[in-house]
Parts: sequence; structure tokens; C-alpha cells
Amino acid sequence: MLSEKIPEWIKAEALQSEEPVYVYDKDKIIQICNNFKNITYPDTAVHFATMANCNSEFLKIIKNHGLNVFVNSQLHLDEVKSAGFSGKQIIFTASSISREMMHKVHDENIYVNLDSLSQLDYWFENFPGKPAGIRCNIGNKAFTPKSGRAGIFIGENSRLGLSIEEIKSIKNKKLINGLHIYIGTDITDIDYFLGYYRILLELAKDFPDLEYIDFGGGFGIDDTGKQNFDFEVYGKSVTKLMTDFSETKGRMVKLIIEPGRILGGQSGYFICHTTDVKFRSNIQFIGVNACSAQFPRPLLYPDDSFHPVWILDKNGLIKNENKIRTKINGCSTYSRDFLSHDALLPKAGIGDFIILGNAGAYCASMYTTFLGFEKPKEIFI
Ligand SMILES: Cc1ncc(COP(=O)(O)O)c(C=O)c1O
Repeated sequence: MLSEKIPEWIKAEALQSEEPVYVYDKDKIIQICNNFKNITYPDTAVHFATMANCNSEFLKIIKNHGLNVFVNSQLHLDEVKSAGFSGKQIIFTASSISREMMHKVHDENIYVNLDSLSQLDYWFENFPGKPAGIRCNIGNKAFTPKSGRAGIFIGENSRLGLSIEEIKSIKNKKLINGLHIYIGTDITDIDYFLGYYRILLELAKDFPDLEYIDFGGGFGIDDTGKQNFDFEVYGKSVTKLMTDFSETKGRMVKLIIEPGRILGGQSGYFICHTTDVKFRSNIQFIGVNACSAQFPRPLLYPDDSFHPVWILDKNGLIKNENKIRTKINGCSTYSRDFLSHDALLPKAGIGDFIILGNAGAYCASMYTTFLGFEKPKEIFI
């Protein structure tokens, strides 16, 4: 659904603007923050995954609404620190972390999830007595990853985390303070989350001094916009799982989750202009004054990136008539420069506004200097 703020903004502001721009509806970001904050398990911390969007204004909004952050690089660590996050408000999870980075993470006194036995050995040798968390790759025969892309995140084909055998072999289990998983992205099937969560909690029984269980991210946006993620069912289910788990431990264990895409995704729109229209085999090719280097998700995930599209005429009125198969291409010479591979849209005219939705996560943050286009401005309304 197109936020009603967007046509209003276009009428008020964009008619003068030539450059492509990202516009975010702040209320939508806040609404999703609140959906997570409504999880009733008493010790819940929601750490936004900054790879989805590390814009300083975005970080300010989520901070003001009680969220923490998860980062995987030095640059994002610096960004979140400048936004005012510190200590246990920050989780660092990455793979093949350099020795230098481990020292930095240690000195910041933030949560860390290590990715291998060799990293754990280094950590305990260099920081005796200081606990660390681990990323668990718990795909097993009993519960296999969904088909398709899911197997790169978890399971025997994934390079990430420690396998179940490796986890079991850890000697100083008392020094493991957190177990982390990441089961995949864009998932709306709550039973799928719960299946993995249960395996992790089973494994967690072997770790006497756990401070937190980190269930990672993966919360999906429904492409059609009709059946959004069911926060109520999710909230009740994790609360029950964690309450039962804490009872077996005899103390409250912290629940951490790391949403990325769902938090910003539907709040953001990429807005550009039509500069050309062509037809090839009855398909409309709308050329725009922007490039996939500025809106890279369809370039990086040509099969998995659905973005709804709206066309507004020069006066900011939505066009709806006579839809035809359409591709939206960028204005570079690159043959793969597409912002949308397959949309049903009315016939466009030069100067019309093209609005791509679901653009608030993994879009501006994926900007690349490849092809030589400016980083678009990001505006919060
Ligand atoms: C470890 C980890 N946690 C959380 C996230 C956020 O995932 P999503 O955007 O699917 O919610 C990611 C994304 O790659 C991740 O790698």
C-alpha cells in the first residue's frame, strides 16, 4: 500500500526536484518498532540489523523507540556509536572476524557472537574469563532448511556458524554467555521460526551460564502487502518458549531478536522520473533518471526482490488505467541496469514519477559507486 503521505509529499516537494530520492514514512518505522516492543516476555531486547539501513536519522528513530542494534563491521560500529548506542545495546556478529577486530569488540564491552572454534580459542586465550556468544548452525537431518536460498544461511551447505558437533565439543561451556541463530530472510511462516528455536533451546540446556538466546532476524514482508507478519502470534509463541526455558534454568534468560528488513522495508520509497519509454515484444520499458547502482536490490537479487511500483503523473496524481507488462530500466549503459524486472503498469509519459515501494531496507544501504551515480538523498517525513 502506498503511504498517503507520499503523493502529498510529491505535490509539495518533488515537483521541483530533479534527482532520485529515498523518502521514508516515519510513522511506519515507529509502528513496526512498537510491534516488536509489544512482545510480552519481560527480558526482551530488539536489536535492529543495521546492514538493512544505517542512515543516522533512521538509527535515531529506532533508538527513540527503545530498540538496540546489531552490527557486523567497523564502519557500522562507528555509526551506531555516533548515534548514541553503547555497551550491551550493541551486538557484533560476523564471520572470520580478524584478530584486530576481536580486540576492538572486546574493548567496547559489547555482545559478540563468534563464528568458529578457532575464534573461540583465540578469544579465551586472549581474554581469559571473559564470556562470548556463538553463532549456531543447527540445520540437521530432523529439521532441514527450506528449499532455495535458505540453505545458504543455515544447514550443512552454509558456511556460517558452528555445527552441532562443534558446539557440543566446546570444553568451557560455562564461558558461553549467548547462543545465536539466523535461519534466513523474509520468512512469514511462524512455525518455521519456532522449529529452529526449539532445536536451539534444546542445545542451550548444555550451557549453564547463558545470559541470552539470540533468535536473529528473518521476519518477512509479504510481497502483496495483504498478509503482513503476524506479530501477535509470534510474540505469544516466543514468550511461551522463553518462559518455559527460563523455568528450566531457574532464572530469567534474556531474549534477543535482530529484525532487519521488516523494520524499515515498507516505510521506504524510491522516487525517480521517467526519462524514456520504449516497447520490445509488447513489453513496456520505462527508462528513469536513476540507476540500479542507486537502487541495487533487483540487481543483487534478481529473482527475490519484489518491489511494488506506482506511477504518478506530472501533477502528482496516481495513474491506474490499462496496465501492461513493464520493465523499469536505469539510464546507464549497463545491460543489467533494471530497477524492476516485471511489473504491471499503465503507459508512462516522460516526466511521470515512478515510485518503488518496500525500499526502506537493503536498498539505500546497498548503494554502490559502480557506474558513477550519486548516492540518493534520504528524507524522513
Ligand atoms: C545475523 C543476522 N541477523 C539479522 C539479520 C537481519 O535479517 P532480516 O533482514 O532478514 O531480518 C541478518 C541479515 O543478514 C543477519 O545476518
